[in-house]
Amino acid sequence: IHPEPCIVVIFGATGDLTRRKLLPTLAHLMHAHPQPQGFVVVAFARRPFTQEQWRQLVVQALAENSPPELGLDEEARQSFAQRTFYCQANLNESTGYQKLAQLLEQLDQQYQTHGNRIFYLAIPPDLYAPVVHRLGENGLVHRPHGGHRANHHGPWSRVIIEKPFGRDLPSAQKLNREIARILHEDQIYRIDHYMGKETVQNILAMRFSNGIFEPLWNQKYIDHVQILVAEDIGIGGRAEYYDEAGAIRDMVQNHIFQVLCLTAMEPPVAFEADAIRDEKVKLLRAIPPLTPEEVAHQVVRGQYTRGTINGQEVPGYREEEGIPADSSTETFVALKLFIENWRWADVPFYIRTGKRLPKRSTEVTIQFKRVPHLLYKPSEARELIPNRLTVRIQPEEGITLKFGAKVPGAAQRLKSVDMTFSYASAFQMEPPDAYERLIADCMLGDSTLFIRRDEIETAWRIIDSITTAWQQMPAESVRPYAAGTWGPAEADELIQRDGREWDTP
Ligand code: BG6
Repeated sequence: IHPEPCIVVIFGATGDLTRRKLLPTLAHLMHAHPQPQGFVVVAFARRPFTQEQWRQLVVQALAENSPPELGLDEEARQSFAQRTFYCQANLNESTGYQKLAQLLEQLDQQYQTHGNRIFYLAIPPDLYAPVVHRLGENGLVHRPHGGHRANHHGPWSRVIIEKPFGRDLPSAQKLNREIARILHEDQIYRIDHYMGKETVQNILAMRFSNGIFEPLWNQKYIDHVQILVAEDIGIGGRAEYYDEAGAIRDMVQNHIFQVLCLTAMEPPVAFEADAIRDEKVKLLRAIPPLTPEEVAHQVVRGQYTRGTINGQEVPGYREEEGIPADSSTETFVALKLFIENWRWADVPFYIRTGKRLPKRSTEVTIQFKRVPHLLYKPSEARELIPNRLTVRIQPEEGITLKFGAKVPGAAQRLKSVDMTFSYASAFQMEPPDAYERLIADCMLGDSTLFIRRDEIETAWRIIDSITTAWQQMPAESVRPYAAGTWGPAEADELIQRDGREWDTP
């Protein structure tokens, strides 16, 4: 990649995301794509570090968090650290932004970064609007003349905003309105790291670069679709955030809806930001908000209790540090929804996600219908299931197609066998990190994999119908499940009622 030189300013530079993800990603980008001038990183945060202390922290963060395959040796870490600058300031005071403006100008001269800037907001969400406002007020963002990016030459400013983007439709709309006063939509990069995953992007490649899937990709041939995002981890040190969000806001509104969009949307007219995002929005618009009755019937909430994972006993959710003993936040959701359009009429989409499930696994299962007429006796076809395509997003990234074959021998016996593509063996590499791809795209000004304003609002409209109904439901409707199991029994009933089964890895 050959992005133009720029300065990346990280707000919330002393936080967890910066240490774990952003610094290793930026260091690797700089290391793998050395540019004559390249780019410079400025950390903007409140803590009183000197430049030297900050650089030591950077080296340490890289040593602890960059996976060996990135190949960041001591020399690479040191040389990246020398390209980072610390600006100590209070996020809520203009003086800090003035100081930042001066530093950026000076660095522009020194490193020929031409006034190009990326502001990365890795801060608590209630600070997004105030920080963008201060950036505008202090002349730190260039607004493109004539509106659209295509007409724009000269220095650019882009802002990357982490999730959660709002907690419901009204708050997301308010945030969109507030930042739109300062930034053009083309300058706003709402990040969802699932879109940076190779295997998520591969859903589009599989569907639209092959002739054999798309003709079957509809209600005529597909019985149902499942999306599973299972995690064995708990909530880590994020009690305060998680207890407010719950699984529906933490995983479904963003990551799972993105996977759903790519799986179910219509072919875009071009591989371009707006063409793809138009199709995603169209798809989300075809999902009607759920009525309270549908929520009661089609959505299961669960919360983990003490249990065992990989032989280790783990505490229940309410016993986690920082979680109220009577919390009714869901750590598991299973739900069924329908997409009301020609392609998907009457095809249920079953979604399942949770913390403290037996293993980490993200998969999309396309369950095809049975053949119209089976030539074999039931006793001969006991081990046969209808065709099933499983897209493994992580781990063991790949795709498996199950199809029927004859078991060798004189007897008529059929069995489902696997045709498998494994990412690791086909490409002899691990998929690269999602953040790296997304930050590189932002440097290139490509917002294809970022979330547009109308997309986020349409997603919230669906989620709000669920969370609003929950408010009227008793706390007991959040069903307990022991850590290390696949969620509450009600989740199994949800799909079994329809005569189907979860495709559990
Ligand atoms: C984050 C959620 O956005 O995604 C976490 O806040 C979750 O709760 C994580 O664990 C999952 O990401 P990944 O890439 O590990 O599947």
